Amino acid sequence: MGKNEPIGIFDSGVGGLTVVKSLMEKMPDESFIYFGDTAHVPYGNKSEQQLFNYAHKIISFLISKQVKAIIVACGTHSSVTLPSVLQEYSLPMLGVVKAGARSAARLSRNGKIGVAATQATVNKKAYTREIQELEPDFQVYETACPRFVPLVEAGKLNNSESREAVAEYLGPLLAQGIDTLVLGCTHYPFLATAISEFAGEKLELVDTSCETIDELQEIFGAQDLFNNSGKKPRHEFYVSGHDDSFFNVGRLLMGDIIKEIHKLDW
Ligand code: SIN
Repeated sequence: MGKNEPIGIFDSGVGGLTVVKSLMEKMPDESFIYFGDTAHVPYGNKSEQQLFNYAHKIISFLISKQVKAIIVACGTHSSVTLPSVLQEYSLPMLGVVKAGARSAARLSRNGKIGVAATQATVNKKAYTREIQELEPDFQVYETACPRFVPLVEAGKLNNSESREAVAEYLGPLLAQGIDTLVLGCTHYPFLATAISEFAGEKLELVDTSCETIDELQEIFGAQDLFNNSGKKPRHEFYVSGHDDSFFNVGRLLMGDIIKEIHKLDW
């Protein structure tokens, strides 16, 4: 595995593309291989055993493609499986939780932070732990938003159904007086417009993807992993299930970067 090899990135579906977008903006010379586990989306209601099975299979696939590092571009895996699986592999692996927590702790002025995430992520309280490690006196209110991922995967980003779901989940969080909201699942930045319209511009939204790429740059700097081949980077997209919605919703965010999707028969 050399420094000119691609970066592996995975999520349950299109959510991790928010991380890809930041990667392409901040590290345009890097190649990547993206895996969307669309056969198993949504992850938020899966058992820990199921999530570990998916993680091992996807990581083995990415390693078979010679990736030099893996971004777990999924809030659920970052909270549930990453803390253990990263001990099992020798290549650099990072998730979105630490980055999101760091950003939220820096942005909040009143010390009241909301976290919108999947049920599996909320059960682990990983964001609360990370935020309170940085700022022990901060209050963190985590809420599960099970309707969000299916809405995003269906491309319903700002229609009456998505606005109703936003009101259902955000209303109680805003009532706690939060000034900052972590979008603790990488699908949720797709709903940022609907969320800001409901909550108002004063609520700081933390999209974990930017800070995750900053963390990746620190790792690459320390381990001399930046691609310096001078060649045009290659971008490959794989899915395990439906590819239509991945293609359509993916193109909303990424434009014509997604040209072809490889469907794996898992
Ligand atoms: C999901 O598939 O439920 C969401 C994945 C995530 O937590 O980012």
